[in-house]
Amino acid sequence: SHSRLVLGIETSCDETGAAVLDETGCILGESLHSQKEVHLRNGGIIPPVAQQLHKENIERVVQEALDRSGVTPDQLSAVATTVKPGIALSLGVGVLFSRNFVRRHDKPFIPIHHMEAHALTVRMLRPVAFPFLVLLISGGHSLLAVARGVDDFLLLGRGQDVAPGDCLDKVARRLSLIKHPECSTLSGGQAIELLAKDGDWKKFAIQTPMGRIRNCCFSFAGITSHMTSKIIKMEAEEGVEAGTLLSCVNDIAAATQHAVACNLTKRTHRAILFCKANNLLPSENPTLVLSGGVASNEYIRKALSIITEETGLHLLCPPAEFCTDNGVMIAWNGVERLREGLGILPPNVDVFYEPK
Ligand code: KG4
Ligand code: ZN
Repeated sequence: SHSRLVLGIETSCDETGAAVLDETGCILGESLHSQKEVHLRNGGIIPPVAQQLHKENIERVVQEALDRSGVTPDQLSAVATTVKPGIALSLGVGVLFSRNFVRRHDKPFIPIHHMEAHALTVRMLRPVAFPFLVLLISGGHSLLAVARGVDDFLLLGRGQDVAPGDCLDKVARRLSLIKHPECSTLSGGQAIELLAKDGDWKKFAIQTPMGRIRNCCFSFAGITSHMTSKIIKMEAEEGVEAGTLLSCVNDIAAATQHAVACNLTKRTHRAILFCKANNLLPSENPTLVLSGGVASNEYIRKALSIITEETGLHLLCPPAEFCTDNGVMIAWNGVERLREGLGILPPNVDVFYEPK
């Protein structure tokens, strides 16, 4: 066929991912190696550990994606790789690999912004026209933006401190949820969601932060520290060691999840009203796209769906495997850029990586 082919490479955090896509967004081959289990055991990501694991896996992951697609490097039209934002040591592995790869095979290079790739992944799955509102919530980020074009984002708000996933992970870690048999293989966010099902958030209800701040930025540090001090207080009351609470773990999980959900919905509601007041969204089919690892939380999705329903927006959330990090979303952003001729660099480009 005459469809152009793009190899996408992702190493910004804790997933080594690669994928080959054609111009229509058809996934010809992909491979993903997750480090999440190692980091879960370490109680968080240690950058040199992440870097080492990317180094050990990048070559195999890329080769696997190519093999599964049946595409040889010379058939590629471009290589697209995440260059920011992320963990500098992790990013460096993908960037260095890509630099060598594009030189060896004489291919154009397309540097990818990880968050832009998250924001546009939905367009690979269905036709979503610009402009649309997008909420990205993960372990490293929270942001609200109007996606106006492949290369054109209006940032309405972003996290001022810890990300929502990080907040859930920290509370889960403080509760040692990893020691609960049913949670031993779950991320902090997944463990909180599971335990919250049998909890009552009203027992530890807290006020939503930033109520008086008139923008669409996020803060989750207050929720983290508030819930941590509640846990310390309950441990003292029970007379148990840190991380061994018995009685109210479910209620604390429910309250944390509820607080995160409320925070997200209130800021997003503000953003929707702002978009409406300033005609930033089309009157036909105005859409909120929700993505990032935290977007797989049903409680948070439901809370956001109440807001979108009330304001007449469509809520679109890609399936979980497209909400989290992978090579596919990077390759898709490469396809979108290739189609429009945006940000395509020659194979011999010297420096295309600037750590923040
Ligand atoms: O997007 P992601 O896989 O990685 C990055 O942060 O880039 O997101 C991981 C985050 C973790 O903080 C994890 O606890 C959270 O997403 N998460 C969840 C759920 N599944 C994963 N948070 C809440 N509910 C979930 N079901
Ligand atoms: Zn991500």
